[in-house]
Amino acid sequence: MPVPDPCVVVILGASGDLTSRKLLPALYEQHAAGTLPAATRVLGVSRRPKPDEAWRDELREAVRGHVRDFDDARWATLAPRISYLAGDAARPEEWTRIAARIEELAPGAACGNVLFFLAVAPELYEPIIAGIGATSLVPRDRRVTCGDDRRAWRRIVVEKPFGVDAPSARRLNQRLASVFDEADIYRIDHYLGKESVQGLLALRFANGIFEPLWSERFVDHVQITAAESLGVEDRVAFYDQTGAVRDMIQSHLLQVLAFVAMEPPSVFAADRIRAERRNILESIEPPDAADLPRAAALGQYGPGGDRPGYAETPGVAPGSTTETFAAMRIRFDNWRWAGTPFYLRTGKRLAAKRTEVLVQFKPPPTNLFRRLGREVAGRMVGADRLLIEIAPASEVRLRFLGRAPGSTFSLRELEMDADFGGRGGGAEPEAYGPLLLDAMRGDQSLFKDREEVEAAWSAVEPLIGPASEVLRRGIRDNYPPGGWGPAASEAILARDGRRWSSGPSSSPSV
Ligand SMILES: NC(=O)c1ccc[n+]([C@@H]2O[C@H](COP(=O)([O-])OP(=O)(O)OC[C@H]3O[C@@H](n4cnc5c(N)ncnc54)[C@H](OP(=O)(O)O)[C@@H]3O)[C@@H](O)[C@H]2O)c1
Repeated sequence: MPVPDPCVVVILGASGDLTSRKLLPALYEQHAAGTLPAATRVLGVSRRPKPDEAWRDELREAVRGHVRDFDDARWATLAPRISYLAGDAARPEEWTRIAARIEELAPGAACGNVLFFLAVAPELYEPIIAGIGATSLVPRDRRVTCGDDRRAWRRIVVEKPFGVDAPSARRLNQRLASVFDEADIYRIDHYLGKESVQGLLALRFANGIFEPLWSERFVDHVQITAAESLGVEDRVAFYDQTGAVRDMIQSHLLQVLAFVAMEPPSVFAADRIRAERRNILESIEPPDAADLPRAAALGQYGPGGDRPGYAETPGVAPGSTTETFAAMRIRFDNWRWAGTPFYLRTGKRLAAKRTEVLVQFKPPPTNLFRRLGREVAGRMVGADRLLIEIAPASEVRLRFLGRAPGSTFSLRELEMDADFGGRGGGAEPEAYGPLLLDAMRGDQSLFKDREEVEAAWSAVEPLIGPASEVLRRGIRDNYPPGGWGPAASEAILARDGRRWSSGPSSSPSV
């Protein structure tokens, strides 16, 4: 694997939550692990004025609170490489000053490589991209040399949400393309930086045993759940404009789905992996308006304990129909999965915090045990399944049937499990760290390409566009906290003769 190039990481939105809770802890972890190139510099830009030293102090405390093994001496070797510039990055005239500061940091230290990271509100992406484009940092021919004929790069990492629908994503793609080559655009989804999500690729493609079963022929259906036990907490302003479909399904859940459902790439290379992810997302057949109430459900959590429901949370617009829960059935129009539904659900204030994928296999073609009575025969319904827990545990469990001990023949459930993450249940490093290093080495495997992000928006369009009104009627308080979402979510599967796996121990029927 290529070594990451040193560069100046320019964080636009330096005094925000993402920077202090994720980006700097991630950079610190990579620095502590010795994987961050020594010549890397970090420049934070946001509007409020503060001296370098004040920002470093803030970051030190934030990093201390968010990494497992904080070491003051280690931090002291990273801190001098971090500096701050107060500026309004959305105003083109400020960019002369910002560019000059970047150039001060870039030569020698990093051969002029610059990694911009958009850690600001999405409405600022376009003016900031225009500001960068107006500077000499990105020459018209997009060629930057280091003085010794080596080329330096300018790359940009764009956070989610990438647009709010397919047309806005298309427009943002065009703006980016007017300044950067596609090879320099890194549309980030930190779910793809999670080792356990990448573990799906190893599970599927490093083994011969799963792939022959991985199709409509043997898989009855797939469930993907990303449940949170917390409510919207302090993200109300953002969340009320966004909702669960845009925040979770369009991005994280569809990425997990892509890894579960995609075809094997011909080789483990960025362009092939991205092409397969894009292909599978493009083969999703979104539910039409008539089918929508049977194929999808939206919900808002109600009050519970001493906590208000979503609708009464301070900051939520009166009469808001923003969903805190979403479930949908996905059908593919492709050879491998035609006829096998994938069910996705995500929500806040649910019974547990858990992200998992459940692959439910079909029962054997005939029930050999049908004469042994209903109970024995009945056990064969929905018995075989593979549960891949992504968070908080990182485990894979294969459940199947075996003979129950005793003088009469009966069946019982058996389970084989494995530490999927390989960290003995311990926490993974912050997912942004490996992704930032990938961007520094020019590896786009775990970043979305332009068509992929547009395909993901098209797949969820019925749940965010005008057709979704039918799902939003009566949404207020339509599920109690601590459960698994509204009744309409259960009904999606019940109509197909199935049920959600609410937890590892429950058995979905087929
Ligand atoms: N937080 C997360 O965990 C998370 C996860 C995934 C994606 N994201 C995405 O990441 C982005 C940032 O999220 P966040 O939670 O960090 O937001 P945030 O806490 O509101 O931070 C935004 C930052 O942008 C700065 N800013 C605002 N206007 C600016 C301007 N014109 N020029 C330069 N800086 C400006 C603000 O500082 P000043 O007021 O000082 O300028 C603030 O530091 C959003 O797009 C969000 O959707 C966040």
